[in-house]
Amino acid sequence: MRVGTARRYLMCPPRYFTVRYMINSWMDPTRPVDTARAMAQWTALADTYRALGHTVEVVDPEPGLPDMVFAANAGTVIDGVVLGARFRHAERAAEAEHYRRWFLAHGAPDVVMPSAVNEGAGDLVWTGTLLLAGSGFRTEPAAHAEAQELFGVPVISLRLVDPYYYHLDTCLLVLDDSRCAPLVAYYPAAFSPGSRRVLARLFPDAVIAGPADAACLGLNGVSDGHSVVLPREAVQLGRALAVRGFEPVFVDVSELRRAGGGPKCCTLELRA
Ligand code: ARG
Repeated sequence: MRVGTARRYLMCPPRYFTVRYMINSWMDPTRPVDTARAMAQWTALADTYRALGHTVEVVDPEPGLPDMVFAANAGTVIDGVVLGARFRHAERAAEAEHYRRWFLAHGAPDVVMPSAVNEGAGDLVWTGTLLLAGSGFRTEPAAHAEAQELFGVPVISLRLVDPYYYHLDTCLLVLDDSRCAPLVAYYPAAFSPGSRRVLARLFPDAVIAGPADAACLGLNGVSDGHSVVLPREAVQLGRALAVRGFEPVFVDVSELRRAGGGPKCCTLELRA
């Protein structure tokens, strides 16, 4: 029996969401985006979390920052310690300061800002015992070392090699972050050969996702240890999770995916 635990999430409504620049392979600025539809999908996602018993904190979006909806990139929060973000691309750079101010105004006594490129929980994924850290497209390896020094937790660097899976949370999902039994799902082809071997060693009973689940950003899910919120196209992954005792909860994120995001990208877990 899997038991979920109540979580606290930070989200940002996609009021100014659009795709007008291209900083990942999913984004096509020539195809118009339906912002109202993105808002409806985001609202349904937030309501899904609330219905599961989680708390949703909301940060005000800023005009001119269309990707601010992807709150996972705002920073990394473990045991109440906040490491802020430093974005790779100029188009998102200003988000870091807006999020820093939100953290300071909402009970974080201190927010450490990184000196290396660090796209927050998009690339720094906490398993409950280890901090898995992606590099290759966005976050720099130097940021992994900064995170290890600040949090005092073991950091495992993993190298991403497929531009469609440019953040670690697009190809790896933590299902169970309880300290005794961390369990993950991932898409091996998104990782360098050496990183694949590291994952196989650390997580011998991981759920291995196939290309169809990866291609709908199915691994960009959010688990509370029991319920796993997934894009509705991730049907095979949903079945595999049900076999392992999890409950898949499907949401429609089709409009947000046009910027390369899914449920997890829209969600930053605030770990007390
Ligand atoms: N358009 C955004 C970018 O390329 C999407 C960010 C998705 N966030 C994530 N945590 N994977 O930066």
